[in-house]
Amino acid sequence: MALIDEITKRRTFAVIAHPDAGKTTLTEKLLLFGGAIHVAGAVKSNKIKKGATSDFMEIERQRGISVATSVMGFNYKDVKINILDTPGHEDFAEDTYRTLTAVDSVIIVIDGAKGVEAQTLKLMNVCRMRNTPVMVFINKLDRPCKDPFDLLDEVERELQIRVRPLAFPISSGDTFKGVYNIYEKNLSLFTSDERQTADASTVDFSDISSPELDGYITKQYADQLRENLDMVEAVYDDFDREAYLEGKLAPVFFGSAVNNFGVRELLECFIRIAPSPRPSTTETRQVEPAEAKMSGFVFKIHANMDPNHRDRIAFMKICSGTFERNKNYLHVRSGKQLKFSSPTAFMAEKKSVIDFAYPGDIVGLHDTGTFKIGDTFTEGEKLKFTGIPSFSPELFRYIENADPMKFKQLAKGVDQLMDEGVAQLFTSSLNGRKIIGTVGQLQFEVIQYRLEHEYGAKCRWEPISIHKACWIESDNQEQLADFKRRKHSNMAVDKHGRDVFLADTSYALALAQENFKDIRFYFTSEF
Ligand code: G4P
Repeated sequence: MALIDEITKRRTFAVIAHPDAGKTTLTEKLLLFGGAIHVAGAVKSNKIKKGATSDFMEIERQRGISVATSVMGFNYKDVKINILDTPGHEDFAEDTYRTLTAVDSVIIVIDGAKGVEAQTLKLMNVCRMRNTPVMVFINKLDRPCKDPFDLLDEVERELQIRVRPLAFPISSGDTFKGVYNIYEKNLSLFTSDERQTADASTVDFSDISSPELDGYITKQYADQLRENLDMVEAVYDDFDREAYLEGKLAPVFFGSAVNNFGVRELLECFIRIAPSPRPSTTETRQVEPAEAKMSGFVFKIHANMDPNHRDRIAFMKICSGTFERNKNYLHVRSGKQLKFSSPTAFMAEKKSVIDFAYPGDIVGLHDTGTFKIGDTFTEGEKLKFTGIPSFSPELFRYIENADPMKFKQLAKGVDQLMDEGVAQLFTSSLNGRKIIGTVGQLQFEVIQYRLEHEYGAKCRWEPISIHKACWIESDNQEQLADFKRRKHSNMAVDKHGRDVFLADTSYALALAQENFKDIRFYFTSEF
């Protein structure tokens, strides 16, 4: 098949949600439709259950599952779908942000009773930065939900994106009757004994004014639906696919994932309107997927769970051309030519060695510790893909060696965990002490546990009071030098030797920004 056909048939996306909204459930149902799995319950929730923050087995279990479900590929009709999994726990949000750099679109799941929640907002901000097209699935209609119009308004207001319902629910909770699919002009009837099966009963209804409708959902609900649909047509413009592709308009669907209701309609629309692989931006130029030469970047690195095999898997998104097994590629950062004898692809739950991969696909590369997040592979051109976010840590601690005999192991462990993007390392200019910055409390526990179990090293944490880490830069070298001298006790360098200002308080930061006008303060750094 020609490269262009391979590209056109691919859809690479992620399902994102606030924990508990139904991301895992929806993913599972999508896989059921794709025939990638055959029974419900095959995709385990990758979330760390509440109250389990100290349960390291749970962390390990989560890591194990997330390797298995990192990428789930399947075919539906003529389309090759790649779903990229994102961690459920918000302490791992950074992992999610990086995964979002590798997708071409996103499906956001919202709990119809709760509406837009905190984590959804944060994730949407990342999508907005990248103009990622988003579709919204409002879930749990089998439970009493907020009014659909209120939900649509809430999505529009909170997520700051125009919406266009392509489905509309008929009541919710105990009186939930079904969903009218505006996009397909048919009615899906809800009967709760459909739990966990693949087919809901649908009735074609191009003319909803037909009295027949009353027979299906009673006159009261039929009238209400007619009224609501009139309102939809009056309030919302026609669905504009271009606006969706530009990330400016979100089509909205309603359903109940656990009942597999409304999911087929979502998937059918998704394969029709969601984008195939889009061009990627590099520091020098735009890379088009259909370019003959292969290029791709690493967006995630996963350590092996088995401490006897310290190797890792680097996940590379193919951005252009055809990736081939055993072909030499330039690892741009090191300048070395590398070839991969056993690159893997992920189809459903199976990992298998592949000979070829195309734009939109994710390839697993065996890594012995040489790769970093953001690394680029090409056929010779020195490209560097941009927009892979490094995060601004919010929690800080000194890391101390608790076993003097294991100094080397600790250094190596810390180094490799940082490459995986688990946390960030800073070295204080004042005393040379190492500081670890994370976005979640849990990460300190994960680091300590992994250092011990994977590297045989022991660490101890000591408190340090830092409000924020900011990378600083200036064209005014004199001012920069002055700043560094005055703030000596708050200066540090990151892993790449870049200057970082560790502000004690928000006041100190504001004051520094006020007094040193020529200095640029960055709250994230790109890897
Ligand atoms: P997440 O990945 O977004 O965190 O959510 P997940 O799919 O794990 O779903 C969270 C809970 O919501 C699960 O219940 C799941 O069964 C339930 N759920 C998902 N979709 C629907 C729906 O359409 N209607 C209703 N009523 N519930 C739904 P749980 O009790 O936490 O777990 P489980 O024991 O059922 O697996």
